[in-house]
This record gives sequence, C-alpha cells and structure tokens, in this order.
Amino acid sequence: MRIVYHGHSFVEIIERRGSVLIDPFISGNSLCDVSYDTIIKKNITAIILTHGHSDHVGDSVAIAQVCNCPVIATFELAEYLHREQDVEHVEAIGIGGRLVFDTFSVKYVPAWHGGGITSFDHGYTTVAAGVMIGIGDITIYHAGDTALFGDMKLFGELYRIDVAFLPIGDRFTMGVEDAALAASWIKAKVVVPIHYNTWPVIKADPEDFVRAVAHHAVATDAVVMHAGDEMTL
Ligand code: NI
Ligand code: MN
Repeated sequence: MRIVYHGHSFVEIIERRGSVLIDPFISGNSLCDVSYDTIIKKNITAIILTHGHSDHVGDSVAIAQVCNCPVIATFELAEYLHREQDVEHVEAIGIGGRLVFDTFSVKYVPAWHGGGITSFDHGYTTVAAGVMIGIGDITIYHAGDTALFGDMKLFGELYRIDVAFLPIGDRFTMGVEDAALAASWIKAKVVVPIHYNTWPVIKADPEDFVRAVAHHAVATDAVVMHAGDEMTL
C-alpha cells in the first residue's frame, strides 16, 4: 500500500482496488501537485470527508459524479451532498461508527472544529470528524481539522496507529506545539504534518514540528511530506 500526500489535507491511499481520497481539495489548493484531470483518470474506490469546509470537500462532488464512487461523510453532510449536490452514492456515518468495505475500513472519531458547509453557499451544519482507516494490519489516522483534545490519549490506547496526519497550521486547528503533544498522546509510529502554508494565515515551519515531536514524542518519527511525496507501507 502507498500513501501520497497532495498538499493541505488531501491524502490519497492507494490500496489493492484503487485510490481512497481523503479531503480531495484540488481547485484552489495552492500546494496541490495533481490536477483534477489526472485524479479522475484513476480508479477511485471512495472519497472520505472529514467535514464540510470547502478546503476539505474540495472537488469531491465532481470527482464522485465522474468516477461514480461513494462519498463517505458525517450524516448531515452526506445527506446534503446527495440531495442538494446530486452525489448519487453517499455513505452517511456518525462519530464512533465504522464502515467496512472489501479492502479497507473507516471509523469516524471526534474532532473539535466548526461544522458548517462552506462550499456551496449553504447554511447547513455538520459535525467535524477525524478518521481512523484500517487496511489489513495498517491503521492510518487523519485528524481532519481539530484542536488538541484529551481523548487523543484514548486513541493512543485503543489503536495501534502506524501513520497519523496532523494539522499544524494554527489559527483554525492545532499549531506546531499542540500537534506535537497530540503526537505524544496518539503514539503513532509516524506523524505527518498537514494543513499549513496553503495560505499566509496558516503559515508554519514543518521543521519546527519535527523538532517539537522529537522533544515531546521520542518514540514517534515526524516525516515532512511535500505535495507529491509518497510513503510505502
Ligand atoms: Ni475546516
Ligand atoms: Mn481546513
């Protein structure tokens, strides 16, 4: 299995059947290395959304319509995408719930963040989430947008996380220091910083994060991935 980082919070997991896209933000993502045209030529098995903000929903609607793949999202966001945006196949899920597919599973876990849908000039609200993805023996945690919160310690007890994607850009999410504390609590083998430097308001130095993780979470490796970088597990 391979994981490709595409900038901001867009992570692609390439598993046996195809690509699972998490928060596929392409149009307007200044860091994204891949074009919409390239993405829709792939075999997309599913899109997983952490929440309804436009920098996470991104190009999901168009990709889902063209590739005919399911969009997995919290209940209200899934309903909205189905009813208002003509996404044919949605899988609604609640925080704490797990969905099992042929080649992967996804469990939605809490995140502390705003829940509005900002992509489509619509006032609907949803709950923001993080996701725990299981593929074979591998567990991948994508925190979405979130503050640091104490239940991340539970994640460290309940899951054996191989790779965690943690926001470090501050302002709307954890900053570098809080994300390094999160790394120490979730006890992942590898943490990758996301959600920074897309715009000046979330400017952060990922090397500061690497140093902070070395200080707070000695058993964890912080790996800086640039857009287009791959990791093989
Ligand atoms: Ni957000
Ligand atoms: Mn965001």
